[in-house]
Amino acid sequence: MIQDQLTHRIIDDLAEKGWSVSNNYFEPDFLDDLIAEEKELWEDGSFRKARIGTGDQKQLRPEIRSDHVLWLGENELTDLQKQYWNRIVELREDINRELYLGLNGYEAHFAVFPPNSFYKKHLDQFAAVKERTISCILYLNKNWAVEDGGQLRIWNSENESDGFLDIQPHFGTFVCFRSDTVYHEVLPANRDRFSLTGWMRKNTRLV
Ligand code: OGA
Ligand code: MN
Repeated sequence: MIQDQLTHRIIDDLAEKGWSVSNNYFEPDFLDDLIAEEKELWEDGSFRKARIGTGDQKQLRPEIRSDHVLWLGENELTDLQKQYWNRIVELREDINRELYLGLNGYEAHFAVFPPNSFYKKHLDQFAAVKERTISCILYLNKNWAVEDGGQLRIWNSENESDGFLDIQPHFGTFVCFRSDTVYHEVLPANRDRFSLTGWMRKNTRLV
């Protein structure tokens, strides 16, 4: 019931303003397990430098983004990753039911922004490939302080004079926003910043 109410608020926020921030969408025990798994993969050296673009156009552009990512393979998810994936797919189906978006896919990666890394202002939908529709980010950082930087800055429009909202990447904070219209950036972090980022997609071809 509570969960239903949280889901409804996310959907209403997406419809009304294009973004939504929740603080208790996932159980603390589940979040503890997720951050333990992400840290272990990070320490193992399983991540690689994030690229921008799509398909053959993917490039390293450290002046635009300097985080490291580990993509989840839909067919090789751990039990924990599967639980997260299933929760997002449930949310996606609820969004479809209410907003008629026809979303039919999902992709996700763990991300780490080490000290001094950032991601400059951008949209998540590519000009040529419009499949990413709703961006969903779960932050996994305990005891994050404002001085640690790494805020997600959501701009009110492409025009910076319209202002912005900064979101701290606190443990359990879950942010969803429209991939096609919401300009956002990640401010430089001063300590390792952990998250799990994904996109609900409207696939126009089989992937
Ligand atoms: C992205 C992105 C924001 C964040 O990966 O496209 O904008 O807060 N991430 O990690
Ligand atoms: Mn983004």
